[in-house]
Amino acid sequence: MSDDNTVKTTMVTCTAPVNIAVIKYWGKRNEELILPINSSLSVTLHQDQLKTTTTVATSRSFEEDRIWLNGKEEDITHPRLQSCLREIRRLARKRRNKTNPDLDVAGLSHKVHICSINNFPTAAGLASSAAGFACLVYTLARVFGVEGELSVIARQGSGSACRSMYGGFVQWILGQRDDGKDSLAQQVEPESHWPELRILVLVVSADRKPIGSTSGMQTSVKTSLLLKLRAECVVSKRMEDMIEAVCQKDFSTFAGLTMKDSNQFHATCLDTYPPIFYLNSVSQQIINVVHKYNEHYGETRVAYTFDAGPNAVIFTLEQHVPEFVQVIKHVFPSESNGGKFIKGLQVDDTILSEELKQCIGLEPMLNKISYIISTKVGPGPRVVEDHSEHLLGSDGMPKKTQ
Ligand code: DP6
Repeated sequence: MSDDNTVKTTMVTCTAPVNIAVIKYWGKRNEELILPINSSLSVTLHQDQLKTTTTVATSRSFEEDRIWLNGKEEDITHPRLQSCLREIRRLARKRRNKTNPDLDVAGLSHKVHICSINNFPTAAGLASSAAGFACLVYTLARVFGVEGELSVIARQGSGSACRSMYGGFVQWILGQRDDGKDSLAQQVEPESHWPELRILVLVVSADRKPIGSTSGMQTSVKTSLLLKLRAECVVSKRMEDMIEAVCQKDFSTFAGLTMKDSNQFHATCLDTYPPIFYLNSVSQQIINVVHKYNEHYGETRVAYTFDAGPNAVIFTLEQHVPEFVQVIKHVFPSESNGGKFIKGLQVDDTILSEELKQCIGLEPMLNKISYIISTKVGPGPRVVEDHSEHLLGSDGMPKKTQ
């Protein structure tokens, strides 16, 4: 106890990004350790637009581990949360025993309070668990002074979270070992590698909540022969080609592989029994628009990919953004509901040629896209140095402002 009778609290705040897979992870060979049946590759999105912020505090005065997510206290006994906490504490103990057995590294025996928020609405349907678990593991590691390979721990929170531990272009290597120590994320290229690449998240107004990834992929592993074929015969070559395309900044190959892999993932969902439908009629129309647009120019200028929901993520180059956004506005007109239709990086207005409109030639679908988030490739997790940004107060409880 310090002189003024207050108990010392150690507090760290970090942020972590969302990632979007262009070669999809779908299916586990080990449910508990979260080991995948195939490797995958993703692009880390910029945290200026999409991020999770997490504060972790430890203090001798805390009676139990507690967690608050987006303003609401959640169950800390969740097995995946427990895996991450247990693994970080184990590494911290190992480190202490090596360096100084008497040292209590940031209160190893102390309980933690965790508070986490996203800067994007959960309703946007973006996989918040990847950014969430990456941020949790990164922040816990800072608090307990743990260094080294943290993606294997984030992976045990949510598979895709291991890829959010790095910025830029990231692969999650399948690994061979049964203990999962070699199933980890690696940066393929940093965020500065391909500055012209742009990402548009088309938030589709969804009526119903789709089947979650965890249970969806369990049923796929049990029932889909196509998924087995994909994991055994398709993905490893695709990973090689994708890495080459990223390294060469070959947009046309990158885009083609991205669309084919999204389509194959959704085909395995249809091949699942009973089938899983993540794409809806709006998603299908977006797919049509992208292909018509590329056909019009006789080259691949735009690519789509879809995860476990109807929202589209579009990849394109900076120079094509204004026109493609105008095409989307043309096919999916939105009656202004007060909010901005384009959020994030600014998109300039442009006028579509009659020829292009005719070539796209689809019936407009009113109010089917709620808004677009315009962003680019971004960096990995970061420590927030400004202490006023802590989400927990000095008493270790969430600040009232959240
Ligand atoms: C379709 O990582 O959410 O987004 O490991 O069970 O937590 P769990 O699943 P999760 O699955 C993501 C699936 C995907 C494809 C991808 O991100 O690779």
